[in-house]
Amino acid sequence: MDITILGIESSCDDTSAAVIRNTTLLSNVIASQAVHVKYGGVIPELASRAHQQNIVPVVDTALKEAGITADKLDAIAFTRGPGLLGSLMVGVSFAKGLAISHNIPMVDVNHLRGHILSHFIDLPDRELPHPSFPFLCLLVSGGHSQIVKVSSPYDMEIVGSTIDDAAGEAFDKCAKVMGLPYPGGPVIDKLAKEGNPDAFHFAKPHVAGFDYSFSGLKTSFLYTLRDEVAENPDFIEQNKADLCASLQKTVVDILLDKLIKASKEYGIKDIAIAGGVSANSGLRNGIVNEGRKRGWRTFLPEFKFTTDNAAMIALAGYYRYMKGEFASLDVTPTARIEDMDI
Ligand code: KG4
Ligand code: ZN
Repeated sequence: MDITILGIESSCDDTSAAVIRNTTLLSNVIASQAVHVKYGGVIPELASRAHQQNIVPVVDTALKEAGITADKLDAIAFTRGPGLLGSLMVGVSFAKGLAISHNIPMVDVNHLRGHILSHFIDLPDRELPHPSFPFLCLLVSGGHSQIVKVSSPYDMEIVGSTIDDAAGEAFDKCAKVMGLPYPGGPVIDKLAKEGNPDAFHFAKPHVAGFDYSFSGLKTSFLYTLRDEVAENPDFIEQNKADLCASLQKTVVDILLDKLIKASKEYGIKDIAIAGGVSANSGLRNGIVNEGRKRGWRTFLPEFKFTTDNAAMIALAGYYRYMKGEFASLDVTPTARIEDMDI
C-alpha cells in the first residue's frame, strides 16, 4: 500500500513543506527568510514570525505541486528539534492542527537524522545513488559537525562531534568579520574559487579521537585580520579571495582528517556528507579526491537537499511511520537533542 506523507521543516530560518509517496519525492517547497540578512545572523523572534506567515502558503503549494489534497495524506511528519524553539513551535503546532482536523497520525523527526536520511530520497524521474549500511556520514551544518555511523535508518551512532563551534558557524563568523553577508558559507565558497588556498595559514586543532573543534581556527583567523588591518586598513578588501580560499581549505582539511581516521578505525568505505556545509565545493572536491585515493564510495547530496528542506523530514518520517513510531498530541519541540535516539 502506498503511504503519502507531508513533511514540515521549520527549525531555523527556512520554512519548508514536502510531500513524499513511500520514498519518492512528489514536491519540496522552501521559503527562505530574507529578513535576517541585514542583521548578519538569524534573529529568533523574526524567524518565528516569518514561519507563521509562510507556513500556510508553503504547505498549500507543496500539496498542489504534488497534485493532492490534504485529505489524501496518511501522516504528517515534522521537525521536533534541534533548532530554535519559537521556530520549531510553528511547525509542531501546524502539524497538530492538521493531524487533528484530518484524523491522521503525526511523526516527530530529529532534524539531524533528516539530513542523514536525505541520501535515501528517490526522485520520480531520475535515480539517485544510495549508500549501503553501515556507512559513515559527515554531518556538517550551521549548528552541528558530527561523524555518524549509520547502521540502518533506525540505528545511528555519533562517533565524533564538535566540542565548540560547528563548521558552518566558523564560515559564518569569519565571513561576518570580513564584512560579508549572512549566511557566510556560500559567499566564502564563491570567493574562494578566485583565491590562493595556500596564501594564509591558520591554526588547526589537536583534539583527541574523532571530535572536532573550530573555535581555535576562528580565533586564529581573527588575529590575522587584526594584525594585518592595523598595518593596512585595506587588507581585507585586497585579500578577500585569498583569505576565503585559505579558510575554506583549513576547514576542509580539519573535516577530512577525522573522517579518514574514522573510516580506518571502523573499516567503513561508504562515506556520505550531509547538512548545509555539504554544499561547499571545497569539501565536495576534497571528499571525492580522498575517496579516489582510498577506495571509498562517496555520496554527495544534490544541492537542494544540502541545506534545510522538508523532503528529508518527510523521508525520515516515512521510516518512522513504517515502524509505527508516532508522536502523541502533547508532543513539544525541543531545542537540543544530544543523541540519535529519535
Ligand atoms: O543545514 P543548514 O541549512 O542549517 C542548519 O541545520 O544549521 O546549514 C546552514 C549552514 C550555514 O552555516 C551556511 O553558511 C552553511 O550551511 N553553508 C555553506 C555553504 N552553503 C551553506 N557553507 C560553506 N559552503 C557552502 N557552499
Ligand atoms: Zn539543518
